[in-house]
Amino acid sequence: MQPSSFDNPTAVSDALDRVGYLPDIGVATAAYLAIRMGRPLFLEGDPGVGKTALAQALAEITGSRLVRLQCYEGIDASQALYDWDFPRQILHLRAAGDGADTAALEASLYDRRFLVARPILQALEQSPSVLLIDEIDRADDEFEAFLLEVLADNAVTIPELGTIRAVTPPLVVLTSNRTREVHDALKRRCLYHWVAHPDFAREVEIVRRHIPEVADRLARDVAAAVSRLRESDLLKPPGIAETIDWARALHILGATGLDAELAAATLGAAVKYHEDEVRVRRDILPQLAEQLGR
Ligand SMILES: Nc1ncnc2c1ncn2[C@@H]1O[C@H](COP(=O)(O)OP(=O)(O)OP(=O)(O)O)[C@@H](O)[C@H]1O
Ligand SMILES: [Mg+2]
Repeated sequence: MQPSSFDNPTAVSDALDRVGYLPDIGVATAAYLAIRMGRPLFLEGDPGVGKTALAQALAEITGSRLVRLQCYEGIDASQALYDWDFPRQILHLRAAGDGADTAALEASLYDRRFLVARPILQALEQSPSVLLIDEIDRADDEFEAFLLEVLADNAVTIPELGTIRAVTPPLVVLTSNRTREVHDALKRRCLYHWVAHPDFAREVEIVRRHIPEVADRLARDVAAAVSRLRESDLLKPPGIAETIDWARALHILGATGLDAELAAATLGAAVKYHEDEVRVRRDILPQLAEQLGR
C-alpha cells in the first residue's frame, strides 16, 4: 500500500488494526500527519505502551522496509551512518602486492564495496523505508545534534564517495522513554505524540488479538488488574507486554478468571521489582480481590 492511499486518520487506524496494532485516534492522527507531511514522528511514553510496535506496524501498512537504529550511551555516527570495512581494506592492500601504484591503490580502498552501511544509510538507500530511531533518550547530546543534520537533509555525504540521497525520504519514527529530556531543537523538527496506556476496552482487545484462546473474562480481569496496578505509583508500572504475558501465564495455568490466589502466584509476569511486589502483595491484592468480587 502506498502512503498516499491514506485519506484520513481513520484509514490509518483501520490499516494498523488489520496488521494487529490497535491505535487510539490520537496515535492514528499523529501517524497520518507524519506520513502526509513527511515529518519525523517523535513518540514519547512509558515503557511498554507500544512505541516500537507502532513503528513496525507503520512499516507494514506502508509496504516499507523497517530499519531500526537502537540508541545507547556513546553511540556515534560510525554506528548510525556508515563505517569502512577495515579488515577487508587490509586484505585488499595485501592482495595488491608491493608493485601497485600507491595513489590508485589508496583511491580503491574507498570503493563502495568496502563501505558498511549502518541503519541511517540503509534507510536512505532502500526506500521506501521506515527508519526507527529507538530510545533516543539513551544517546548523548552530540548524537542528537548529528541526527538533526541528517534529518534536515535526508542525505548523507561521504567525503570519499559523494552524497547519497533518498529517492523517497524515509518515514522517521523516534521513540523515547523520557529517561532524560530530548532537546527542543530536535523535537521542533518532529510531530510529537505522547503514547498513553490504553483504556480498559482497548487493552482487553489487545489481549484478545495477541492470545485469541484466552477466556473473555480472564482478558477483562487482567486488564482491570493492570489498570489498578498502574494507578498505584509503582516503581515500574506494567506495560502492555506485561498485560499480555500475565494473561498468557494465567491461561497456561488453566485460569478463566483472576482471583487473589492466582494473581499472587503469577505476579512476576506483571511486576518486575521486588519493592513493587512486596507492596502489591500487602496493599493492592486484597483490594483487587474485592474489586473483582472474588
Ligand atoms: N496498540 C497496540 N496494539 C497491539 N499490540 C500492542 C499495542 N501496543 C503495544 N502492543 C504490544 O505490546 C508489547 C510492547 O510494545 P512495545 O515494545 O512496542 O512498547 P514500547 O513502548 O516500545 O516499550 P519500551 O519503551 O519498553 O521499548 C508488544 O508486544 C506490542 O506488540
Ligand atoms: Mg520500544
